[in-house]
Amino acid sequence: MNERIAIVGAGLIGRAWAIVFARAGCSVAMYDADPGALAQCRKQLAENIGDLAQHGLIAEAPDVVLARITPVATLAAALEGAVLVQENVRETLEVKRAIFAEMDQLAAPDTILASSTSWIPASGFSAGLPGQGRIMVAHPVNPPYLVPLVELAPAPWTSPAAVERARDLYARAGQSPVLLKKEITGFLLNRIQGAVLNEALNLYANGYASVEDLDKVLKDGLGLRWSFMGPFETIDLNAPDGVVDYARRYGPTYREVACGQLPNDWDSGVLAGIEAERRSLLPADQLGERARWRDNRLMALVAHQRKQSE
Ligand SMILES: NC(=O)c1ccc[n+]([C@@H]2O[C@H](COP(=O)([O-])OP(=O)(O)OC[C@H]3O[C@@H](n4cnc5c(N)ncnc54)[C@H](O)[C@@H]3O)[C@@H](O)[C@H]2O)c1
Repeated sequence: MNERIAIVGAGLIGRAWAIVFARAGCSVAMYDADPGALAQCRKQLAENIGDLAQHGLIAEAPDVVLARITPVATLAAALEGAVLVQENVRETLEVKRAIFAEMDQLAAPDTILASSTSWIPASGFSAGLPGQGRIMVAHPVNPPYLVPLVELAPAPWTSPAAVERARDLYARAGQSPVLLKKEITGFLLNRIQGAVLNEALNLYANGYASVEDLDKVLKDGLGLRWSFMGPFETIDLNAPDGVVDYARRYGPTYREVACGQLPNDWDSGVLAGIEAERRSLLPADQLGERARWRDNRLMALVAHQRKQSE
């Protein structure tokens, strides 16, 4: 793959996208409104790419991958010749609207403009723009160079051909695209994550289990299976005759439980309890170190998965 890709916004997610595309062979132009962010990002990129190399997750020397990423001083220079622009600026509707209006003016007509937004549907920032047919959401999971899912969420007016071209580009870059058939706030992953968090908060708030044990339910329970199959495939295999058999056996109980599942209001008292338990397990000054440990565990898991699929 040797297309030119533009990354707009060089924070946490912009940097991670740059690695995805540079690793796949693309030349990547990075722009940020804050020149300081661009200056800092080289060091961070080198560190992340070095970690990937240590886990055998890049096929080339780290310097070769890093050399494909070029910081540029203006938005116009970033967009020049790009087949895809991945936008990663701040998560507010006003900011997204402004940057997409500007990018739509500057980019060549067939350049795809994709947003990393976590929650905002594309119609919110593309409505009425002359190039609204090439604008969509492409929501990654942090960091996309380790977690391949990308949620493609077009607006009602996004052209199916643009979505197909984007799907092909992300797939060739090693990502795993899924398509939303219609718009919804939070797309798929964050809605499912939100449902799990809501229930975990309620179970904690109502005194059923500790923070540590609720985390274990995922880490030592559901999460093991979820790293290679989803909930539908899980229930298909958990009754002798598949999904309908499973639903016949357990559906009424799940429904009864769902009737009692209320929205949690994320109130400060409950959060203070969770914070206190987390800080007793992990002091605040060790958060950064633990995040690095998490990324390394994830790299080891991805390396293992690759070996298995080979
Ligand atoms: N952090 C995550 O885990 C995560 C995961 C998936 C998606 N996202 C989404 O990715 C986007 C970026 O999030 P982040 O965590 O990287 O934020 P961040 O704060 O780390 O980075 C944002 C960057 O955008 C730059 N910026 C702001 N306005 C700009 C403009 N007009 N032009 C160019 N650059 C501009 C800032 O200087 C900053 O460097 C958000 O929409 C967020 O919802 C984040």
